[in-house]
Amino acid sequence: MSGKVLVTGGAGYIGSHTTLLLLEAGFEVIVVDNLSNSSLESLRRVEKLSGKSVTFYKLDIRETDKLLNVFSEHKIHSVVHFAGLKAVGESSQIPLEYYEQNIYGTLSLLKAMQKYDCRRIVFSSSATVYGDPASVPITEDFPISATNPYGRTKLYIEEILRDLAISDSKWNIILLRYFNPIGAHKSGKIGEDPQGIPNNLLPFVSQVAVGKREKLSVFGDDYPTVDGTGVRDYIHVVDLSDAHVKAVQKIDNLTGVTTLNLGTGNGYSVLQIVEAFQKGSGKQVPYQVVERRPGDIAECWADASLAKKVLGWQACFGIEDMVTDAWRWQERNPNGYDD
Ligand code: NAD
Ligand code: UD1
Repeated sequence: MSGKVLVTGGAGYIGSHTTLLLLEAGFEVIVVDNLSNSSLESLRRVEKLSGKSVTFYKLDIRETDKLLNVFSEHKIHSVVHFAGLKAVGESSQIPLEYYEQNIYGTLSLLKAMQKYDCRRIVFSSSATVYGDPASVPITEDFPISATNPYGRTKLYIEEILRDLAISDSKWNIILLRYFNPIGAHKSGKIGEDPQGIPNNLLPFVSQVAVGKREKLSVFGDDYPTVDGTGVRDYIHVVDLSDAHVKAVQKIDNLTGVTTLNLGTGNGYSVLQIVEAFQKGSGKQVPYQVVERRPGDIAECWADASLAKKVLGWQACFGIEDMVTDAWRWQERNPNGYDD
């Protein structure tokens, strides 16, 4: 199957990997991104890796008129929607900005799509919508809730998309709830390039290993888990991206709303990640245990069997690949795309 896919936020971490895999699968890709948290260099590298070109528009998805121009210039089959802000802590400080960019941005995109009769969308949701789950593994029918403005934007956008599907049966909507994406493309050419101090575990660990930061703070070792530290379902970004390609390939047959977890089904603790990273990189990762981070939960991992059933997808990469690939990217690009 081929056709034109619009990727919003396609210059970002998950967007750049997904763009690469879509190109490799034979799709034409149009990226819109305001580059607020990314650099065009990621797409240049995607073009080199794939030997194909990407059509790029620097625009903010809130600018509906500019989006309409994109839809008028291209007959777009489906949209993969990554664009938005994603820092949990920051979202509590500037909630209006999060609601405006994530929710208004999505409304603007949906209106443009509707106008051009494009009713197929794959949306980046998050396991954050499960709040503090009553048990693990988590299935898609678990109750959903949010504890911060970022999480609420994901929750509300999911609701908006469900309302849209009820109002008009021509919409095909896939909500992908990501667990913890980490790692990088095996080439070491594209990866995660966080601005400032990383919030997430893996980029922080990588920056300690490369010598940019002194030590990791482990947020609590008194959780009821295997070693007291938080347990998460880490998933290789290439596996995650592959699920998007399969979602686009199957979307014509998936009417209404389809909600899928994207995880591996395995949980690793913070200390297990540190150990795996040290083994994969040959570098030491000094750490100290500090207070729990407010809002953190003890453990969270997916039941990803529905994605296998619906998309024929399952994660292939294990934790060794994830940390080795993350390290290759970090070592070769210590300053991210600025190198
Ligand atoms: P990212 O910040 O690397 O990518 C987001 C991209 O969107 C960036 O290139 C940014 O410049 C662009 N963007 C932001 N606001 C925009 C706007 N208003 N108009 C146009 N472009 C805009 O983040 P990512 O890690 O690749 O995440 C992609 C999506 O997946 C986000 O929606 C995020 O909330 C979601 N998600 C990410 C994770 C994760 O751990 N990385 C987990 C769950 C869900
Ligand atoms: C965080 C977000 C979540 C978001 C997800 C993916 C919070 C409260 N939650 O989830 O909404 O969907 O990222 O972007 O921010 N850790 C340390 N030291 C660090 C960083 C993390 O010990 O410096 C621990 C955490 O306590 C946690 C694990 O590592 O146990 C993973 O943390 P992180 O990568 O931030 O992901 P989540 O907390 O799962």
